[in-house]
Amino acid sequence: MIVPIVAIVLAVATLVSGKWIVPGARWRDTNGNIFNAHTGGLCVDQDSGRFYWFGEHKAEGQVEGGGISVYSSDDLATWTSHGLALKPVKGHEWISPDSVIQRPKVIYSKETKKYHMWWHADDSKYSKLLQGLATADNIAGPYTFQSATSPLGNWSQDFGAFTDYKTGHSYALYSNGDRVEGRDVYVSKFNSNLTAVEEVTFRFNKYDFEAPTILQTEKSYFALMSHKTGYRPNNVVAMRADKLEGPWSQPFFVSPAYTRTFSTQSGFSWRIEGTKKTTHLYMGDQWDMRSLWESRNVWLPIEINERDGSLKVVWHDIYDLDVKTGEWSPIKGKTYTSKRGKLAGDAFLQEATFGSHNVIATGIYGNQSTITFEVDGQGEDQWISFYHQNIDDMGYGDQPMGQPDRINGTWQLRRISSVVVNGDTDNVHTLYQKDTHKGIILSTPLLLPLKRGRNTITIGGLYNGVDYKGADLDRIVVYLPEAR
Ligand SMILES: *[C@@H]1O[C@H](CO)[C@@H](O)[C@H](O)[C@H]1NC(C)=O
Ligand SMILES: *[C@@H]1O[C@H](CO)[C@@H](O)[C@H](O)[C@H]1NC(C)=O
Ligand SMILES: *[C@@H]1O[C@H](CO)[C@@H](O)[C@H](O)[C@H]1NC(C)=O
Ligand SMILES: *[C@@H]1O[C@H](CO)[C@@H](O)[C@H](O)[C@H]1NC(C)=O
Repeated sequence: MIVPIVAIVLAVATLVSGKWIVPGARWRDTNGNIFNAHTGGLCVDQDSGRFYWFGEHKAEGQVEGGGISVYSSDDLATWTSHGLALKPVKGHEWISPDSVIQRPKVIYSKETKKYHMWWHADDSKYSKLLQGLATADNIAGPYTFQSATSPLGNWSQDFGAFTDYKTGHSYALYSNGDRVEGRDVYVSKFNSNLTAVEEVTFRFNKYDFEAPTILQTEKSYFALMSHKTGYRPNNVVAMRADKLEGPWSQPFFVSPAYTRTFSTQSGFSWRIEGTKKTTHLYMGDQWDMRSLWESRNVWLPIEINERDGSLKVVWHDIYDLDVKTGEWSPIKGKTYTSKRGKLAGDAFLQEATFGSHNVIATGIYGNQSTITFEVDGQGEDQWISFYHQNIDDMGYGDQPMGQPDRINGTWQLRRISSVVVNGDTDNVHTLYQKDTHKGIILSTPLLLPLKRGRNTITIGGLYNGVDYKGADLDRIVVYLPEAR
């Protein structure tokens, strides 16, 4: 009898799928610290095959010059910090704590047998628009500064990199700044040892895009870029071509209009060629300009239709990704609509054609005007996604209408709600609710400690620099714990 039981256990073990990716959550590394690597890029270690993610490190309160941090992972979900791969050096012309060290990308050079890190190198005024190069023998670094140069004599601002999996050639992608003589995006080929840009393959003239990335399918190249709205998200576009030299298609939105690409900016993408499926991931930045250091990473699967040349970045609160097979699947949760919630104080249900059951909960404010849900828990930390509408782009407080997103000259990107589990007001969880558009509902996840059985989740408003308004709430979705 024992033998068949062992066989069953093994069979189940081989069915265990990948790891959960939770876009827009507060990601933590294996030490429990915030995953602090923005506008980054992936590179695979030549020896171990492990993924390494490089990104801008931002200390609390810091905007520029934090250096480049590096994390490693086998599954793209569990990340181990290796500290700073490129450390800022006081007084250095290009990598001082005052320098712009943005959008790092690392590529392995077979000729130099080193890892080459490229980035947008600049002074604090963005007046130079150069490309930085640093190299290292080991993927995690430390990287040694080599140069800051103009590619073929041209300006280079937002930086991206792409390697063609068919030809093996690598390309630098860069917008050339905001001046009228610029406003283009270059796709330029690196020389064979990856020490300099060698020729311009294509230039997207005068679209005035930035944050470029390219992904490749069997048949197509797709270039994704954002419009230029600083740290405020906009509708990211893609263009398609059979060849990098073009002709390229007209730009088109990659996600539903007005979602501003789920409040993100493009910057990187990745092709997972699994044993069963090829999957492409969109890897964007969900900026928080009031606290850049805790901006979130939003990685989402991309759906491509080769027949009509379309590409979609599709939202999932949580999906399970297996980097070995390339398969992924969305996780299903249990939905509790605001109509089923208990409202307190001045919070009320308002008619809304776009809301669940034609209503949305509004008037959430401070700790008196709240909405409370009763949800089932498993006695573990569980993800809950909060679906909200935040219409601050209408103008706010004493501001006239028609000043999109602007409060007294400061762009406000979020409201903050308080989330209290089972009345535990000593442990108030903060929920950042990005500006949406009027009539657009987006979600933000929190990992919350639930009891087994019945729990209460109470949502109020916290101070966001202006007042204590929480965003309008449509529903919450409670997910079962991830199997370990
Ligand atoms: C570089 O920029 C100059 C304008 O400053 C332009 O004339 C030239 O064509 C650009 N070079 C390339 C290779 O695109
Ligand atoms: C890289 O190749 C270029 C020629 O394309 C050469 O001039 C340069 O010395 C090489 N650099 C290294 C570090 O191999
Ligand atoms: C409720 O909010 C008020 C200020 O608006 C604050 O003084 C009070 O401490 C809060 N109570 C709780 C239980 O958080
Ligand atoms: C806008 O600025 C004015 C004048 O400084 C101030 O009185 C007002 O409270 C501000 N409004 C908001 C919404 O911050």
